[in-house]
Amino acid sequence: MGRTLRNRKRIGKRVAHSASSDELIGLFKWLKMKVRNQKLRPTMFHDTGRGLMTKRPIYPGDVIIAIPKSFLITMDTVLKSEVGFLLKRSHLKLNLQQAMSIFLITESEKQEESVWWRYIKVLPETFDTPAFWKSSDLCLLSKNVYKKTFAALNDLQTFYDEIILFLSSSKEVTITFNEFRWAWYCINSRSIYYDCDSSPYITDTNKNIALAPFLDLLNHSTTAEVEAAFNMNNNCFEIKTYNSFRKYDQVFISYGAHSNTHLLMEYGFILPDNPHDVYEIDYDEIVKVAQNLNLQYIDKKKRVIEENAINRKLVCSKEGMSWSIHAVLKILAMDFTELKSWKLIFKDDTISVTNQKAVKNMSQIILQQELLEIRSVFVKFPSKDKSRLTRHQNLALDLLTIEENILQQSIKLLQ
Ligand SMILES: C[S@@+](CC[C@H](N)C(=O)[O-])C[C@H]1O[C@@H](n2cnc3c(N)ncnc32)[C@H](O)[C@@H]1O
Repeated sequence: MGRTLRNRKRIGKRVAHSASSDELIGLFKWLKMKVRNQKLRPTMFHDTGRGLMTKRPIYPGDVIIAIPKSFLITMDTVLKSEVGFLLKRSHLKLNLQQAMSIFLITESEKQEESVWWRYIKVLPETFDTPAFWKSSDLCLLSKNVYKKTFAALNDLQTFYDEIILFLSSSKEVTITFNEFRWAWYCINSRSIYYDCDSSPYITDTNKNIALAPFLDLLNHSTTAEVEAAFNMNNNCFEIKTYNSFRKYDQVFISYGAHSNTHLLMEYGFILPDNPHDVYEIDYDEIVKVAQNLNLQYIDKKKRVIEENAINRKLVCSKEGMSWSIHAVLKILAMDFTELKSWKLIFKDDTISVTNQKAVKNMSQIILQQELLEIRSVFVKFPSKDKSRLTRHQNLALDLLTIEENILQQSIKLLQ
């Protein structure tokens, strides 16, 4: 084991960095030693915060960024570090995000002694994902998002407990929950997909991740079209864009076709005009409505729905309810004879007039119920004036307003 880990001293407050422009220039220079012809420059943008601006026009098909392998933090980097030493010595395995979290924290503690210090210094100090919110602000989230936050915090606690158990034999290393949460979300919100071979020391779940300094300053846009992959010819992780950008534009990539709930949970932001936005409806709530209407054979119908995985993607969007919600409702509304030919739902035809009426009735009840729930949260805000709300309260208010709009639109489409 390396000297630094054995003799670790606490140097001030760990993981509390706020990147100044000097630090960004530092990162830029560090990378410039290896990455020539950089087209992009870190800049503060009024709407998205820190991001990358282009210094020259960019055309579809251009490679906007290429980060050499030696600058990536991969499973290999972690296994070759002191954390790797601990992993090889232990009978316990961690997942890569856990191991990489310990790596980030221990490297952060070394400060200038770490070769990764220039990078670590520009990592965000904190995040706007609900896992960092005060509990009084969590109550301002809709039921769905609140439940997801609770589950995410539970998972985080479990991962942390596993780390504590893993580190228990190594008396020199202590990691607090807050340090772990910081590192976990650095990786969560900034890692790229990077194919890694299996390792005897790391579990296979979620093993294909890596951190790519500088590249991870790129913000997300729903209109961005990119291809990201490791190029074996030049040993660089590259991003190719299919968009055009004028000189001094902010360059965006796409993190995926994510809903606002997902963007908030994983990245801590939402987009007002997100074409991928959906409002999730809980399967149990749908079944409860059918039960309250005294519909028959519910257990049998549930079996059909669950065994055929029809209870997935139960969402509505501005275009109305998803096919799955309609299919679940159709099955729940079937009579005994109709249920025998339940596969007719795949034909997208009306099952019967009675079935159609029951589906419409249940749809209305479900959407109105959800709308009432959302509206009951609005009254919990400490002020109606957005300028008097904190950043997290504003995020909660914006998301709630978007959720209300989706529900209203879906109700309109039923009529
Ligand atoms: C990969 S990093 C991008 C760089 C980041 N802005 C920074 O300053 O380090 C992802 C984070 O950027 C922010 N972000 C990305 N796209 C955004 C957008 N369109 N609007 C607002 N924030 C965005 C979120 O905080 C997200 O967690």
